[in-house]
Amino acid sequence: MYTFLYRRLLKWIDPEQIHGLAMLFLKVSGSVAPIHYLMSRVLSPPLESMGIETLGLTFDHPLGVAGGFDKDACCLPGIDALGFSFVEVGTVTPLAQPGNPRKRLFRLYEDEAIINRMGFPNAGMVKIAHNLHAMRYFKKPICISLGKNKATDLSLAYEDYVKVLQALYEYGDFFIINISSPNTPELRKLQTRAYLGDLLHHVQQSLREQAGEDKPKPLLVKIAPDLEDRELDTLIDLSLQHQIGGIVATNTTLSREGLRGANRSEEGGLSGRPLHQRSTEIIRYVYRRTQGQIPIIGVGGIFDGDDVWEKMAAGATLVQAYTGFIYRGPCFVKKAITQLQQRMAAEGVRDIGEIVGSG
Ligand SMILES: Cc1cc2nc3c(=O)[nH]c(=O)nc-3n(C[C@H](O)[C@H](O)[C@H](O)COP(=O)(O)O)c2cc1C
Repeated sequence: MYTFLYRRLLKWIDPEQIHGLAMLFLKVSGSVAPIHYLMSRVLSPPLESMGIETLGLTFDHPLGVAGGFDKDACCLPGIDALGFSFVEVGTVTPLAQPGNPRKRLFRLYEDEAIINRMGFPNAGMVKIAHNLHAMRYFKKPICISLGKNKATDLSLAYEDYVKVLQALYEYGDFFIINISSPNTPELRKLQTRAYLGDLLHHVQQSLREQAGEDKPKPLLVKIAPDLEDRELDTLIDLSLQHQIGGIVATNTTLSREGLRGANRSEEGGLSGRPLHQRSTEIIRYVYRRTQGQIPIIGVGGIFDGDDVWEKMAAGATLVQAYTGFIYRGPCFVKKAITQLQQRMAAEGVRDIGEIVGSG
């Protein structure tokens, strides 16, 4: 029914307006206890044999919502009711910014894909700290995506990442440096040797200062799917040198290979089905090069439980989805996790950790 509605009716409405309406619904439903309870009862997946310990945290199951969905931390309880096991907030920049001019979000139905060139629209770290403070009793793990303002020069980018980290440190369980969005000019240059070592040094130092006597919370790096092997090697090696807690693979791609959808020549990052294979290849590459030393969060084109399995078999400990959720609707998590459990039972896998890096 959702797919029918999505294709027939929602097709005529601007995707960003639909997203706004969905966020409003999640905000309201998440804050009204009986609706939240009902939604959770109907939409949360069963959790047998799913507990995952990683990054010093416990996750009910591997599937979280990807960066960019709840940019301002407006609807964490609503996302919780949809059954996701963890939430990424952001990408957050120091100052509020409007992002790129609209229209900047396009669906490609034939390809089950989205092209976006949002450009980090967000309410800025002060307002988002306020929103997160109001959610401080939220129980599931929260990760916060750190970004830089469009106007900040690349040579001073590290200051933006550190500012956001300092403002939001107490609210996040772990943090992700986003240096891989294609929609902020030159941002992806931060993945190169010329910038990355310095950036990681400054952000890690700030994390240690924030932690004081405690163990610093983990810092992860989110990477692009468009890197060459040599660039990936540099990035992985620098990440290991700087004791990065994990890698998120991947962000959206600039590739337009094999697309059929009418919007295929729009500028921006492509996500969804066409990204699936490439992001899985990157996960496998990172897993092999790091010899499984650090956790990988696999993201890109997850639509069902088999896709989750594939990402984990390539080396991901956790996974995230955005586009698959948009196309599959509110039952997405429940269906994907139920299918994953059925496959575990069919293949005689008792502990979900056995899947990681198995193929
Ligand atoms: C509309 C939209 C906005 C996004 N915004 C962000 C963002 O702010 N920060 C980020 O790290 N990733 C962002 N992403 C990328 C997703 O987090 C994810 O890496 C990518 O979409 C691939 O996953 P998917 O195929 O499941 O969508 C965005 C994706 C979409 C579709």
